[in-house]
Amino acid sequence: MSPISSSKPATVVIFGASGDLTQRKLVPALHTLACRQLLAPETRVVGVARTEYSDQAFREHLYDGIARHSRAESGPNAACELWSEWSNNYTYITGELSDLETYQRLGDRLEAFDREFGTRGCVLFYLAVPPAIYAMIIDRLGRADLDRGDGGWHRVVVEKPFGRDLESARELNSKIHEVFDESQVYRIDHYLGKETVQNIMSLRFANAIFEPLWNRNYIDHVQISVTEAEGVAHRAAYYEQAGVLRDMFQNHLMQLLTLTTLEPPVAFEAGVLRDEKAKVLKAVSPVTESVRGQYRRYRDEEEVASDSMTATYAAVKLWIDNWRWRGVPFYLRSGKGLSRKSTEIAIEFKDVPHLMFDIDPDKDMTPNVLSLCLQPNEGIHLQFQAKEPGAGMHTRPVALEFRYAEHFGAGALPDAYERLLLDALKGDASLFARADEIELSWSIIDPLLDRWEKGGEPPLAFYESGTRGPAEADNLLGRDGRAWHEHC
Ligand code: BG6
Repeated sequence: MSPISSSKPATVVIFGASGDLTQRKLVPALHTLACRQLLAPETRVVGVARTEYSDQAFREHLYDGIARHSRAESGPNAACELWSEWSNNYTYITGELSDLETYQRLGDRLEAFDREFGTRGCVLFYLAVPPAIYAMIIDRLGRADLDRGDGGWHRVVVEKPFGRDLESARELNSKIHEVFDESQVYRIDHYLGKETVQNIMSLRFANAIFEPLWNRNYIDHVQISVTEAEGVAHRAAYYEQAGVLRDMFQNHLMQLLTLTTLEPPVAFEAGVLRDEKAKVLKAVSPVTESVRGQYRRYRDEEEVASDSMTATYAAVKLWIDNWRWRGVPFYLRSGKGLSRKSTEIAIEFKDVPHLMFDIDPDKDMTPNVLSLCLQPNEGIHLQFQAKEPGAGMHTRPVALEFRYAEHFGAGALPDAYERLLLDALKGDASLFARADEIELSWSIIDPLLDRWEKGGEPPLAFYESGTRGPAEADNLLGRDGRAWHEHC
């Protein structure tokens, strides 16, 4: 991983620059990087989209997003103050994305930047567009000779969703590879940009005390929960076609699973790390137990069919068939319209082999649980048994807590896009998904999708909004004598 240093001069080209992602995430992240002096001052940003904007109107549109979403809104690096210095670095090209002429104009602009600002042929193309046109843009970039830089690098950042099943993901990978070499491709999964997600690796591999226990000898089971209180809101049209398995499992939950279970990489280096992730994904055996749910009011949402079978909730049980994890069940769940937003990885350890105290293990003992609280109360929670003060030897569960906000200060956690954009500009692909990783995770999700969508199994379980989800998800663990943890 690169040390914290600023990027070298380059141009960032955002396709789909008039859209929500650009205004809400990309530009506020770029601008926060600029405020923190992590972007070379020569950096130029070109927005490309069909919407008509002058450079000035484009900048005003971006300023709204910065004022609302940038992290460096106040204090010495106030985003809004610095905007007057940086805004001129942003320009806009109005054009049809299918039209080769748009790319020729873009090429002229990139050449002019090379001459004027010394960006030396280094360009990061960001596809902030609907997935249906990823392949077309890549094709036009190739035809306009924008796939290679003169003396510099050209890279392409592809947003999720990456395909809607294994076959379409493979097709997209091969279309991309017709133009760009894998080393130029940066597939975003914004979960990998989260500090707390990266911390899974620090916790495991920068401490001596956890890793020796991190296997089937000591771990009873693992739970990964990503719950959301919000419904699908304005994204219903997309969500109807996607559903929770495509929206959350194939990408974010699979990434959390791999980081929790991979073997220790020998270096924090993109190739090595991604090899280990691919290895563990290959060891996941076919999912046999799953729950699919839908929150009751989903069918009343705008743009949702009144008989929609789209799942807004899923819980699955899976196994990883390798030396380390054989026999350890992994329970994964994610859903919308639930009681709260929380992302938690709970590692439940096995019971002690022998209890010397005269207590009822079922009543007086709880297992050790290490919970990684990824958001929103970022931290780590360790539950263990302690002696209750007084006569006798009664124990009770207590907790050790670490909170990011207490240790590093409120607001210390950067937005995922800040980290990912900076890494892409520096050429560090460690936190981006490689082609084989994407295909392997689709090969885990695909059979489940088939069973759900073609076979209609298991039946859709309805749940009320604002609750913990369908009872079937509790039964999934209940059958094994377990229950979901909520420690974060
Ligand atoms: C996105 C999904 O990738 O992740 C959304 O498309 C989901 O449906 C979001 O709400 C969750 O991200 P976060 O960072 O809020 O946990």
